[in-house]
Amino acid sequence: MSQRRVGASGLLVSPTGLGCNNFGRAGTVTETLDGTREVIDAAIANGITLLDTADMYGAIAGTSETLMGEALEGRRDRVILATKFGHERDMGYDFPAGRGSRRYVRRAVEESLRRLRTDWIDLYQLHLPDQETPIAETTDALDELVREGKIRYYGHSNFSGWQIAEAEFVSRQRSTGRFISAQNHYSLLARAAEREVLPAVERYGLGFFPFFPLHNGLLTGKFTREGGPSGSRIMSSRRHVWEDAPWAALEDFQRFCDERGITMLQAAFGWLLANPLVSSVIAGATSAAQVEANAEAGTAWTPDASDLRVIDALFPLPEDPGARV
Ligand SMILES: NC(=O)c1ccc[n+]([C@@H]2O[C@H](COP(=O)([O-])OP(=O)(O)OC[C@H]3O[C@@H](n4cnc5c(N)ncnc54)[C@H](OP(=O)(O)O)[C@@H]3O)[C@@H](O)[C@H]2O)c1
Repeated sequence: MSQRRVGASGLLVSPTGLGCNNFGRAGTVTETLDGTREVIDAAIANGITLLDTADMYGAIAGTSETLMGEALEGRRDRVILATKFGHERDMGYDFPAGRGSRRYVRRAVEESLRRLRTDWIDLYQLHLPDQETPIAETTDALDELVREGKIRYYGHSNFSGWQIAEAEFVSRQRSTGRFISAQNHYSLLARAAEREVLPAVERYGLGFFPFFPLHNGLLTGKFTREGGPSGSRIMSSRRHVWEDAPWAALEDFQRFCDERGITMLQAAFGWLLANPLVSSVIAGATSAAQVEANAEAGTAWTPDASDLRVIDALFPLPEDPGARV
């Protein structure tokens, strides 16, 4: 698989990545070490290099990283490890400090390094903006980690457009290091990032990682308005995703895919990767077969301009009520 550069940085990642929030998730095959190992084995065998996790993922916070550390024993060098810190979920740190503060960052990185059984993290991401801590304190702490070799690069997640701009300008003003990437909710069925986030990502030369790129699995083509696989995440724990789905548009989209001889999964990947701002599609997976299909989908189809116009008409960016005068 050819690699993509993350924004203006020197970090290279595979176009299909692996989202790792299923590892250690209760009720899934990947709840266990064997299930996790099977998915990671398939990812590596199919050319996926980027694994994206977070300290808080897992039925018990930290389990995703712990299982990954075990599954990657002896082959750490073969992957790019991205993880996150600073979610609101309680990580059991009993000190008063903002999630982006120097104290929190230093504690969190040590815990992640230990669980992942590695000396370094390739991409360390602030999971949610921290309104309490000045962004300069966070970037200073992250720069320290870069100098110490504990992380290679840092990125953010769930930042709004103005927060991306603020972080960039504070880094420029102070001549410090900078965030190289943004990770936000984005898929054919969730295009709000196109309003403020993607323009900021482009302007400041960041790489972009869309999360929920398959809309929890809805865009894989395995669901219809009649239902879907009973063991799937959507049917077992996120039924509202299926209940609220725009079925008329999805059925038209399935016909669009059939006419082109591609699967909905390939179309969902192809549409995301047609955007040069997208560094990697970090799709989650619960089996080796899914990973294999996702790796293949990352290179299967590239939409042309007329395909993109049809897709825009099927899944338009909803009107922004705040923009009305
Ligand atoms: N930064 C943030 O705040 C944030 C938030 C959420 C997620 N994320 C990141 O984004 C990643 C991806 O999100 P996600 O995994 O929650 O959602 P997703 O990628 O939209 O959907 C993944 C789910 O779709 C199904 N699936 C995937 N490939 C398939 C295939 N080829 N065939 C059939 N079904 C398939 C699987 O579920 P079933 O087998 O159960 O159907 C899988 O768990 C996460 O792992 C995480 O790294 C970040």
